[in-house]
Amino acid sequence: MKCVDDFRLRLGKHELVPIMVGGMGVDISTVALSLEAARLGGVGHISDAMVPTVTDRRFNTKYVKDKLKQYKFNVENADKSVVKFDLGLLAEATKMHVGSAMEAKRGDGLIFINCMEKLTMNAPKDTLRVRLHAALDAGIDGITLAAGLHLGSFALMEDHPRFRDAKLGIIVSSLRALQLFLKKSSRTNRLPDYVVVEGPLAGGHLGFGMDWREYDLATIVAEIRDWMIAEKLDIPLIPAGGIFTGTDAVGFLENGASAVQVATRFTVTSECGLPEKVQQEYFKASEDDIEVNQLSPTGYPMRMIKSCPAIGDGIRPNCEAYGYLLDANGSCAYIQAYNREVAAHPGERRIKVWDKTCLCTHMRNFDCWTCGHYTYRLKDTTRRNEDGSYRILSAEHVFHDYQFSKDGKVALPE
Ligand SMILES: Cc1cc2nc3c(=O)[nH]c(=O)nc-3n(C[C@H](O)[C@H](O)[C@H](O)COP(=O)(O)O)c2cc1C
Repeated sequence: MKCVDDFRLRLGKHELVPIMVGGMGVDISTVALSLEAARLGGVGHISDAMVPTVTDRRFNTKYVKDKLKQYKFNVENADKSVVKFDLGLLAEATKMHVGSAMEAKRGDGLIFINCMEKLTMNAPKDTLRVRLHAALDAGIDGITLAAGLHLGSFALMEDHPRFRDAKLGIIVSSLRALQLFLKKSSRTNRLPDYVVVEGPLAGGHLGFGMDWREYDLATIVAEIRDWMIAEKLDIPLIPAGGIFTGTDAVGFLENGASAVQVATRFTVTSECGLPEKVQQEYFKASEDDIEVNQLSPTGYPMRMIKSCPAIGDGIRPNCEAYGYLLDANGSCAYIQAYNREVAAHPGERRIKVWDKTCLCTHMRNFDCWTCGHYTYRLKDTTRRNEDGSYRILSAEHVFHDYQFSKDGKVALPE
């Protein structure tokens, strides 16, 4: 019987352990976690979500405070369209975040950045271009285009000197999305270096509707693989979503996948950005505690632990400080939901908003507990402490468990 270590992912001149730790937004997949994946010979991801906010926390910069100061006059205003990001500062923060990761990188692995198109920041094209270029400037090994169809993203990078040398990939959840991306990007004469195929059991936002249960990762991967063979396209395929054990991963690697992308198992490691109190909630969660809902203002369904503080909370939109989900018109579905509730409950000090959540504020504070479907199995991957809490794992332990385990087994920590 084979294990993941019997396979290798080839990306250009790199030969890698075929384990990619997926991007987990707003610093859940930290630089520390990505460094471990790279040190161990795989691929780690940092995220480009809310980078100025993350940089403030990591380097004591004052991007959020300064932006809030600049737009303080607008805080009481229901219309947020004046709130814009300074593109120079956005580039500076991104370079700091990415640069610190690349400087610290050791080992043969790679560090990529997960770049979300739905982070529209009240100027979708301009801010996306700045984020992509700044990451390339700072020496990122690769960029994974996520949360959107990215039909124009290759063109946005085309004039960057590293456009053909950096590894560029895309996350899709259907053959159709991949075909659209390839068609729209063909003008740049550059194919993606890898394609992550994300199924309905993943964490974060889903590329499916609320009928996600009707889809199955293995079927989608097989469909894309067969189409690529027919088209004579040789692009590594990397399935993601619900690959919980090394044996699950081997199943995909034996069927034509070049690597797997995994995330949920790493949410309970000490390198992960989630506070330990929240990690204990992930461990404790049962299957019934997890739901796919439509609370994200992005319009994509998202999987969450039902008891998280983000659900139902009616916090005032904080766009003057954050504002990462403001669309091209300076609006966000949460603002509309919030304003509706305020109008319906005049004079009430703390209103409730049940149909949308203020994703910026709650992701920033680790109060939106997005998670993969198999989060309820995390409790079986560790031991209990004397006080009944679950033992936090090391990223190395989880990585090696994926790399070497056989027979569907999960190794418990020593
Ligand atoms: C807590 C959490 C946050 C995530 N955030 C993002 C994100 O910001 N962008 C993204 O493209 N995928 C995100 N994902 C999806 C992962 O990168 C990955 O593709 C998927 O979760 C893999 O499935 P698994 O969690 O079952 O291993 C997230 C997943 C989790 C668990």
